[in-house]
Amino acid sequence: MSDISTRYLGLGLKCPLVASASPLGESVSSIRELEDAGIGAVVLPSLFEEQLELESNALDDDLWRGAESSPESQSLLPDLEDYNLGPDGYLDLIEGAKAAVDIPVIASLNGVSPGGWAEYAGLMEEAGADAIELNIYSLATEPNTSAAEVEKGYVDLVRQIKRCVRVPVAVKLSPFFSAPANIAARLDDAGADGLVLFNRFYQPDFDVESLEVVPRLTLSHPDELLLRLHWAAILSDHVEADLAITGGVHSAIDVVKCILAGASVTLMASALLQKGAQHAFSVLGDLRRWLEEHEYDSVRQMCGSMSRRSVPDPTAFERGNYMRVLSSYVLRSGNHGH
Ligand SMILES: Cc1cc2nc3c(=O)[nH]c(=O)nc-3n(C[C@H](O)[C@H](O)[C@H](O)COP(=O)(O)O)c2cc1C
Repeated sequence: MSDISTRYLGLGLKCPLVASASPLGESVSSIRELEDAGIGAVVLPSLFEEQLELESNALDDDLWRGAESSPESQSLLPDLEDYNLGPDGYLDLIEGAKAAVDIPVIASLNGVSPGGWAEYAGLMEEAGADAIELNIYSLATEPNTSAAEVEKGYVDLVRQIKRCVRVPVAVKLSPFFSAPANIAARLDDAGADGLVLFNRFYQPDFDVESLEVVPRLTLSHPDELLLRLHWAAILSDHVEADLAITGGVHSAIDVVKCILAGASVTLMASALLQKGAQHAFSVLGDLRRWLEEHEYDSVRQMCGSMSRRSVPDPTAFERGNYMRVLSSYVLRSGNHGH
């Protein structure tokens, strides 16, 4: 039987399918369900920089002014405080999950700027987290802020978090960089043990009747995988950090593609939310069958065999391919107005 075990962030995983940060990681019972369905590791939902800053500000307020905290923090705190269980509940979740399952438990922080909040990573480690995933979700809306400043902040943040913990740190990135290979290499130098490609962004929608900007969360589609495959295939030749792919992983074939591109693991959220934890079981069954039919002894044997450097025609990943793709489009009768 083919061996589907892998290594990610220095951790031994029984398979390359990891539950990505989502509400499925919010309770010990659903984490146990994921383990029972064969999942190799679980990433818990994120705690946010804003939550941790608020907590430490409120604590400062309490210390300075007695038990009464400031009106601003009172109006902001309730929602944020409880989001994803809040900072204290989160540590309990890590401890509970570690006691209940054998698979690695990866805690997640979401933030952009170096600061006191990042020290929370140390508490996550103390609570038993096997690794930290840092989700860098930034919207640089201020015209005076340059890309260089934003990127320096990211690199500094990764260095800071690395100083706070001994467990490995993975960095979940957005695809929106002018020079993704450069920032990947700098995060690699800063000590990132893994790069997670890529965050999905939830752009707000416009309600044209009420003229309100409304939040909108849509689950992913497998087509979103292509952008991730492209960059994994390029970056896997350049960075020491392990690569993980998130965004559009729905089936065993998606997992196979990610591994061929050079990813050590694939992270799944939407498909598990849509179909339930049991979906992992069928994906892993299909993955084993695929490996056997294609005579691979192991997942590790095929890792990276379609990276940019490994394929016979690397231009498939480069600019020239754009023209080839466009010219490959054939107009069908009926779709050009006749
Ligand atoms: C309801 C929901 C909640 C999520 N919460 C988080 C989160 O707390 N932190 C995070 O890094 N990603 C979060 N994500 C993103 C997922 O972890 C994942 O990266 C993304 O959905 C792409 O994977 P998919 O195509 O398998 O859904 C969330 C996604 C969904 C759908």
